[in-house]
Amino acid sequence: MTAERAAALVAHTRTVDETRALAEALGERARPGDLVLLAGDLGAGKTAFAQGFGAGLGITETITSPTFTLAQEYEGRLRMHHLDVYRLDQLGEVAGLGLAELLDDGSVVLIEWGDKILPALPSDYLEVRLTFGEGDDDRRLAFRAVGPTWSLRTRTIAEVVGPYVGPPRGNGTSPDGPPGPEGAAGNGTGGTEA
Ligand SMILES: Nc1ncnc2c1ncn2[C@@H]1O[C@H](COP(=O)(O)OP(=O)(O)OP(=O)(O)O)[C@@H](O)[C@H]1O
Ligand SMILES: [Mg+2]
Repeated sequence: MTAERAAALVAHTRTVDETRALAEALGERARPGDLVLLAGDLGAGKTAFAQGFGAGLGITETITSPTFTLAQEYEGRLRMHHLDVYRLDQLGEVAGLGLAELLDDGSVVLIEWGDKILPALPSDYLEVRLTFGEGDDDRRLAFRAVGPTWSLRTRTIAEVVGPYVGPPRGNGTSPDGPPGPEGAAGNGTGGTEA
């Protein structure tokens, strides 16, 4: 058996609703104390992912971008803290948020641009890195478990991501495209755009 590296699990979505549906499935499996870092450029879909994840936690309130508020809190099956640290320059500001306490209290924390503040974060998280694909609505989502919490749940992640694994859409040669992910389309998440 060759040595296995903890490679990232990669998914492809073709619409914002697919990204939300994938995230919703993951949110349904979230546990108290889960930390999720959302990495990716402006407009990659970090907030869309958080909206779907929140729907999976049973949050009915509209989830909006916390870019200007830094942190927002929502009540669902678990409490979700949704942060956007794009504008945070100093790690000290993050320390002031009391992240460890929030996680200890059983909340779930999602941090957009979390990869920018790694030194201030617990080293136990799921990183979701969103990048742009060929088409305007194509996205690649790479999932990487860091630390024990998520590493022990790679099977769960694989189950959630499985329907979206496969080659990205080609250059629009077929209007129907390749077989789509089962049940991924038309599964409204309730995460309305603000
Ligand atoms: N497959 C897709 N997945 C996610 N978003 C998509 C997809 N296709 C198109 N979009 C669009 O891309 C945009 C993603 O915006 P979103 O606010 O989620 O990005 P963001 O990464 O949070 O950006 P920011 O860094 O500004 O916070 C939305 O307008 C969404 O409709
Ligand atoms: Mg955002």
